[in-house]
Amino acid sequence: MEMSYLPLFIFALFVFTCSADISNKVGINWGSLGNDLPPPPQSVELVKSLGAKGVKIYDADPDILNALKNTDIVVSIMVPNEIIPNISKSQYLSDKWVQANVVPFYPEVKIRYLLVGNEILTNPDNGTWYNLVPAMRRIKSSLKTHNIHKVKVGTPSAMNVLESSFPPSNGTFRSDISAPIINPLLRFLNRTKSFFFVDIYPYFPWAENPKDISLDYALFRSKNITYSDPVTNLTYTNLFDQMIDSLVFAMKRLGYPDIRIFIAETGWPNNGDLDQIGANIHNAAIYNRNVVKKLTTKPAIGTPARPGSTIPSFIFALYNENQKPGPGTERHFGLLHPNGSKVFEIDLSGETPESEYKQPLPAPMNNEPYKGKAWCVVAEGANSTALADAMSYACSQGNKTCEQIQLGNQCYKPESLIWHASYAFSSYWAQFKKAGGSCYFNGLATQTAKDPSFGHCKFPSVIF
Ligand SMILES: *[C@@H]1O[C@H](CO)[C@@H](O)[C@H](O)[C@H]1NC(C)=O
Ligand SMILES: *[C@@H]1O[C@H](CO)[C@@H](O)[C@H](O)[C@H]1NC(C)=O
Ligand SMILES: *[C@@H]1O[C@H](CO)[C@@H](O)[C@H](O)[C@H]1NC(C)=O
Ligand SMILES: *[C@@H]1O[C@H](CO)[C@@H](O)[C@H](O)[C@H]1NC(C)=O
Ligand SMILES: *[C@@H]1O[C@H](CO)[C@@H](O)[C@H](O)[C@H]1NC(C)=O
Ligand SMILES: *[C@@H]1O[C@H](CO)[C@@H](O)[C@H](O)[C@H]1NC(C)=O
Ligand SMILES: *[C@@H]1O[C@H](CO)[C@@H](O)[C@H](O)[C@H]1NC(C)=O
Ligand SMILES: *[C@@H]1O[C@H](CO)[C@@H](O)[C@H](O)[C@H]1NC(C)=O
Ligand SMILES: *[C@@H]1O[C@H](CO)[C@@H](O)[C@H](O)[C@H]1NC(C)=O
Repeated sequence: MEMSYLPLFIFALFVFTCSADISNKVGINWGSLGNDLPPPPQSVELVKSLGAKGVKIYDADPDILNALKNTDIVVSIMVPNEIIPNISKSQYLSDKWVQANVVPFYPEVKIRYLLVGNEILTNPDNGTWYNLVPAMRRIKSSLKTHNIHKVKVGTPSAMNVLESSFPPSNGTFRSDISAPIINPLLRFLNRTKSFFFVDIYPYFPWAENPKDISLDYALFRSKNITYSDPVTNLTYTNLFDQMIDSLVFAMKRLGYPDIRIFIAETGWPNNGDLDQIGANIHNAAIYNRNVVKKLTTKPAIGTPARPGSTIPSFIFALYNENQKPGPGTERHFGLLHPNGSKVFEIDLSGETPESEYKQPLPAPMNNEPYKGKAWCVVAEGANSTALADAMSYACSQGNKTCEQIQLGNQCYKPESLIWHASYAFSSYWAQFKKAGGSCYFNGLATQTAKDPSFGHCKFPSVIF
């Protein structure tokens, strides 16, 4: 009698460890840097409608976590960068953070990942680097104290933690962080059976080097281009695999061949600045559909260095976020517009075959570098108080930046704030672009290829 239970038990255990620990389901990054985004309960419905099985948030916002209660959505939360130094120094503060941000929601919210900071090793050290792994240890210990064992602790890195990623077999961590930070990080991840969380964007290496890297290779649709690593003889058919494997080899070099990789972010921008090649809806749709297909295929495909391995992942991002600083692409990674409509058809469950996407994609208009003049004008919907301040700032910089919009001069009329500010932004940008000045002004400005000049008023321009 007893014996007959045994096989069943083993079977159940097997199923449990597989499904609880790692899955080939695709989730989504839920960033909140927009002033026009739907409230959390509506966002949760939108997450479901995209077929996403998980969400990753960049904090532990209680409104978001409340909206995720009693759903099947697997959740990744984050300890903000700023408090890492404090948490690393005090088990009490670590316990308090877990008590305040995890305990009230667990297990009703399926929190499974707790990430400590975001891309901490990307920027120069401001006193956080050396506190990173100690803070992760404290957080892990706080979870244990609260009897929470299902939550993996990690930290997301950008690809620039590597100093070499080509060929993939040459993958090597940066020498400034390798011994002091990456080594203890890998020891922690290996010991706790957690993941190396990494942000993988084939868009960026391709956009830096569109002559040498084929767009098709970056979009998973090259039929005839392969790359063979001369050291391992492994054959690559896309840039994404190449990037992942360079991390695999970098970890192996430090003695950790088996740490699993979790794609914390991947995606492709659906729009961007004039000089940002390939940022369009067409490419974004192709990339995201293809990466979802790759990641959800059963049995798992893996990568050339880890064939058959499951790669859990979060796509970036849920929404176009209008308050993200930086170049235009930063504000255009969303699968959804802020009003909740899809930027292009996509199903993150991987269950929709290509042929069921009915709407034709808009043709890509910027797959070649933009050549010509550009101007910097006021963006749609800019706040007029903020605009007046930004214009004063622009006018206070450079030489005679706003001379033409003074009373009596060529560009004074029409006498409107938007017109004057557009002139000021173009004039500022034309002088400072070379020195790294941008056409952004906190989102109040945008690049255009259409000459705003009118009558005798000539706007200064930038030439790409
Ligand atoms: C350190 O830099 C990170 C960005 O890498 C930032 O988010 C964080 O707030 C900074 N921390 C401190 C203590 O200044
Ligand atoms: C870190 O701790 C110090 C000393 O207790 C405190 O003054 C500071 O506000 C804390 N910093 C953060 C970001 O919580
Ligand atoms: C391998 O990486 C090292 C740096 O870690 C770099 O100096 C070298 O050029 C790379 N080799 C190749 C073939 O790119
Ligand atoms: C990593 O973890 C595995 C399994 O727990 C263990 O056998 C191995 O020795 C660890 N590797 C290192 C370098 O500590
Ligand atoms: C691959 O095919 C494309 C389109 O058929 C062609 O333009 C390209 O030259 C080919 N590349 C190689 C390396 O054969
Ligand atoms: C790679 O292939 C070449 C030629 O086919 C062979 O000589 C070499 O031994 C192979 N290297 C490895 C690491 O398999
Ligand atoms: C949602 O916003 C997008 C982009 O602004 C727009 O193209 C679309 O028509 C809007 N959809 C609805 C239903 O309002
Ligand atoms: C406009 O900007 C000003 C100052 O920059 C700010 O105080 C105000 O709240 C903003 N108004 C709106 C509607 O966002
Ligand atoms: C302003 O004029 C001075 C003197 O002609 C020149 O050195 C400086 O580079 C100019 N500044 C800009 C931003 O063009």
